[in-house]
Amino acid sequence: MTSLLSIPPVSADESIDRRQLEHLLLQDCGSCHGLRLTGGLGPAITPEALAGKPRDSLIATVTHGRPGTAMPGWNALLNDGEITWLVDRLLQGNP
Ligand code: HEC
Repeated sequence: MTSLLSIPPVSADESIDRRQLEHLLLQDCGSCHGLRLTGGLGPAITPEALAGKPRDSLIATVTHGRPGTAMPGWNALLNDGEITWLVDRLLQGNP
């Protein structure tokens, strides 16, 4: 029968390559938000810093960027599932 051992904890979407997204989070997002995402050119995007911010607006920020700031939109590079995964990852904390 089916095994219960391999249920993915964060997302059920198997098309998401988590290792690649984790790499992107640290390399690309980290280049502005800091290696530990605690802030640099961009603000801290740790769970503490993002507490109380609506998930939808964070997803919109990552998707489209923030015009007039250095924050680029990522929709050319990432699909909706990947962006949602990243935002949920930020809200939950990056181990
Ligand atoms: C070129 C620099 C740069 C890169 C690369 C970058 N960001 Fe940003 N980001 C910013 C800046 C600057 C802001 C603040 C915009 C503002 O002033 O509203 C920001 C804002 C944000 C916010 C909103 C924070 C808040 O408090 O509302 C989130 C979430 C975010 N970035 C996530 C990401 C993610 C995820 C990535 C990688 C996929 C990324 N950023 C890559 C510069 C960057």
